[in-house]
Amino acid sequence: EMDTNRTSQWKDKKVLITAGPTREALDPVRFFTNYSSGKMGYALAQAAMENGAEVVLITGPTTLTPPQNVTTIEVSSADEMFEQVTKHYENMDIIIKTAAVADYRPASRNNHKMKKQQGPLTVEMERTRDILHYLGQHKKKQFLVGFAAETQDVKEYGRKKLEKKNLDAIVLNDVSRKDIGFDSDQNEVLFMTRDGKEQAIEQNSKRNIAKQIIQLIDYELRKD
Ligand code: CTP
Ligand code: CA
Repeated sequence: EMDTNRTSQWKDKKVLITAGPTREALDPVRFFTNYSSGKMGYALAQAAMENGAEVVLITGPTTLTPPQNVTTIEVSSADEMFEQVTKHYENMDIIIKTAAVADYRPASRNNHKMKKQQGPLTVEMERTRDILHYLGQHKKKQFLVGFAAETQDVKEYGRKKLEKKNLDAIVLNDVSRKDIGFDSDQNEVLFMTRDGKEQAIEQNSKRNIAKQIIQLIDYELRKD
């Protein structure tokens, strides 16, 4: 699909989107990761581009083809994502953090492939940096959108994350639903803003969900 659907609505807007999982290495052949497919983030990058924006997509490892007319930067670990995001965020107008960033990584990485031993293995894990929290502390003009994956008390945890990370909006995913989310092509989300709006986006393709999220962000930007 080429630029045929492209509008000029966001022609003066720069948008940063993160997508996919991260990989936290244990040794040269093993890593910790999660089930994120990157589909929601890639769909958002595509939708923002079609809305006329200049889009930078910073992505963890996925099997997806990067959208055309989007600057795509590939990273692997949470640390690398932090580095690339902090390098690019300053002149962005909108930042959407769809990525499922690992909260923990192995405290030390073995330079050689680990050999199995008798009995169980204990791996010490340490916290990664919270990229979104950092952006919330340092943002100036940017409209900052987080994502949250929850399996229970979705709205309560979502509202807390929005406040704690100083976001303008958050997109809530109920990942206890087996039929949607993560690897699915479908999703169903709740868009929640800092000033208390809660807009349900009913089950649809991730492409259509992405378009609706972009339009909701556009509405919020025009309000003030
Ligand atoms: N996030 C981030 N950097 C991290 C962890 C999370 O930028 N190290 C971002 C994600 O990209 C997402 C948001 O924070 O936009 C919420 O992620 P989520 O995992 O739902 O929440 P956490 O704050 O990590 O809390 P928890 O996993 O304990 O529920
Ligand atoms: Ca997390």
